[in-house]
Amino acid sequence: MQLDVNGRKREIAVPEDTPLLWVLRDELQLLGTKFGCGIAQCGACTVHVDGRPVRSCVTKVGTLGAAKITTIEGLAGRVPEAVQNAWREIDVPQCGYCQSGQVMSAVALLTKNAKPTEADVESAMRGNVCRCATYQRIRTAILNASEAMGD
Ligand code: FES
Ligand code: FES
Repeated sequence: MQLDVNGRKREIAVPEDTPLLWVLRDELQLLGTKFGCGIAQCGACTVHVDGRPVRSCVTKVGTLGAAKITTIEGLAGRVPEAVQNAWREIDVPQCGYCQSGQVMSAVALLTKNAKPTEADVESAMRGNVCRCATYQRIRTAILNASEAMGD
């Protein structure tokens, strides 16, 4: 089957019920997307499908059709830049394991809602777990990125 990943058409030969996360990491060597729980409970595997944040560990590749898949490696543009700068400015990551999922969720939020309230941030990021408890810095960085993007 063919998948559209980070703007490139990729041919893959796997069963249709293979989780997207397996394809990204094992077939396409896109290792920025992480395996955490495998059951949609931690957010480490978050990627965008047509701009929406999805858990790639429970997304079967056979359901994707021509959807545009974006991983952390394929992020580009104003919102991702603002988020990545904000992350760097206050050194959000600790061990880093959860962070690509956090960034993917943050970019999806700010793309849809450039001026989120704290409650919006809380709600959008609720499914992304961080064992190092960087939650406060994540929230601050998202609000800083929103501020930096202006109106
Ligand atoms: S690995 Fe997918 S949500 Fe945890
Ligand atoms: S930075 Fe370590 S799990 Fe989030």
